[in-house]
Amino acid sequence: MSESDTVRRKPSVLMVYYTFTQQALKVAEAMAGELRQRGCDVTLAKIEFTDERWVERFSRFPFKRPLREVLGMFVPQMRGATGEIVIPEEARRDDYDLVCIGSPTWFFRPSIPIRSYLASEEAGRVFNGKPFAIYVVARRYWSLNMKGVRKLAKKQGGEYVDNIHFVYAGRQVRSFLALFGYFTYGENREKYAGIKIPPTNLQPGYEGQGRAFASKLADGLEVPAAPA
Ligand SMILES: Cc1cc2nc3c(=O)[nH]c(=O)nc-3n(C[C@H](O)[C@H](O)[C@H](O)COP(=O)(O)O)c2cc1C
Repeated sequence: MSESDTVRRKPSVLMVYYTFTQQALKVAEAMAGELRQRGCDVTLAKIEFTDERWVERFSRFPFKRPLREVLGMFVPQMRGATGEIVIPEEARRDDYDLVCIGSPTWFFRPSIPIRSYLASEEAGRVFNGKPFAIYVVARRYWSLNMKGVRKLAKKQGGEYVDNIHFVYAGRQVRSFLALFGYFTYGENREKYAGIKIPPTNLQPGYEGQGRAFASKLADGLEVPAAPA
């Protein structure tokens, strides 16, 4: 049977992510744009973080008490806590050709909502036997997060393909002050406590990098032919 005898359907890609300050969403949108141009069907699905222990602090931006609210996540993160989340219908289906996980770093590791999703029964259906890719968004620390996501998705039967990370401008102290200022004021400022700081969040160029990564993923998509 030749290629022309088979009807090739569009590859379908799930982009599942959690986001608080919308950085993971921006990368998902850039990647989705490229994948669609390459003929894929792309579905974006956001995990909602609804656990009553933490829902209030993550339901508004900027933080009300940034130091307390951010530091308060340290212990749960260190013990690998999971919590209550809402998983949209789109992130429960088992018919994707590729799954891409968008994971913000919280204290070096995957955030509670992403960990909770990856450990869920629903994710088991999505990942089992499926190729998956990871993108990490972080101020600076991406690798433990990526490895944590990879481990959990593999445990659910997923087949790891590739990863990419996006980090913020500035070295340790200034990038921290810039992010902390953003958490406090809800906008980029030129200085924090009198110290000149770079803009926080995704750096210019993230879109091109996201698209290039997505294009590489599209190259590798082997889509089964629909029955003739
Ligand atoms: C509770 C909390 C903890 C964080 N801890 C870290 C960290 O340990 N290392 C790091 O590089 N970034 C850390 N960040 C910054 C986020 O990883 C970064 O801002 C990310 O891009 C947010 O993605 P989002 O906008 O999609 O939520 C933390 C952010 C929050 C809210």
